[in-house]
Amino acid sequence: MEPIIEVRNLSKIFISRGRKITAVDDVTFDVYKGEIFGMIGPNGAGKSTAFAMMTTLIKPTGGSIRVAGFDVVKEDDRIRPIIGIVPQKLSLYPDLTARENLELMGNLYDVPKKVMEERIEYYLKLVNLETHADRLTGGFSGGMKQRLSVISAVIHDPQIIFWDEPTTGLDPQTRQAIWKLARKFNKEGKTLIFTTHYMDEADKLCDRVAIMNAGKLIALDNPENLKKASNSTNLEEVFIHLTGEEIRD
Ligand SMILES: Nc1ncnc2c1ncn2[C@@H]1O[C@H](COP(=O)(O)OP(=O)(O)OP(=O)(O)O)[C@@H](O)[C@H]1O
Ligand SMILES: [Mg+2]
Repeated sequence: MEPIIEVRNLSKIFISRGRKITAVDDVTFDVYKGEIFGMIGPNGAGKSTAFAMMTTLIKPTGGSIRVAGFDVVKEDDRIRPIIGIVPQKLSLYPDLTARENLELMGNLYDVPKKVMEERIEYYLKLVNLETHADRLTGGFSGGMKQRLSVISAVIHDPQIIFWDEPTTGLDPQTRQAIWKLARKFNKEGKTLIFTTHYMDEADKLCDRVAIMNAGKLIALDNPENLKKASNSTNLEEVFIHLTGEEIRD
């Protein structure tokens, strides 16, 4: 297995109103090239903070991360073009249409116009938004925005895709559409890293699952081994077994 992300002794301490908050606490793991890697854990576990550091948006206060061999602090400009990000808080422009939002992303990444237009048509169809292409996204439902965000992160054909809670609050059909997309990207050889609060989703979709709690990585393995190790039938039970606490959403 070839690592594409190498996280070593990663920490992030925020100072907020004079108080120290250890959001990520000495975490070490690899993500392998071509896998679907899931991160689960309760609110405040440090998932989004870890994502922000892996995607070069914030700097670690301790440890290091290499993405495709590049250091997230010193070589962030080499990393940005090869990753796609769907943040937990979506960042679409409400006064632009779906197509314009996608074009904006494509232009940011210097995707050639013809290639970009082809990808936009293709992806809009893939997530059933083709009839809404020229509507302002401000009027979109939550699920429509989510689907648009997911494809806006891949217009530049990144090798590595980061999705922070791509399916939260979605109806079952839309969740399934996003799973289909995840599997499709994975078949194309892309590496996919995502967070979720849905244990069934992590179980079904992921090659390996990292479980975080209070800033620490408390387990990392494939879903089968995780369940076997704690004699559980699902990942929710695995978490309870490891921490003695239930996941509250
Ligand atoms: N910019 C910030 N300043 C101060 N504290 C922060 C900041 N960002 C995150 N934190 C704190 O760091 C901890 C981890 O938060 P983070 O958002 O990474 O958790 P999470 O696992 O993504 O949770 P959720 O499941 O709710 O999205 C929390 O205690 C949070 O309040
Ligand atoms: Mg989060």
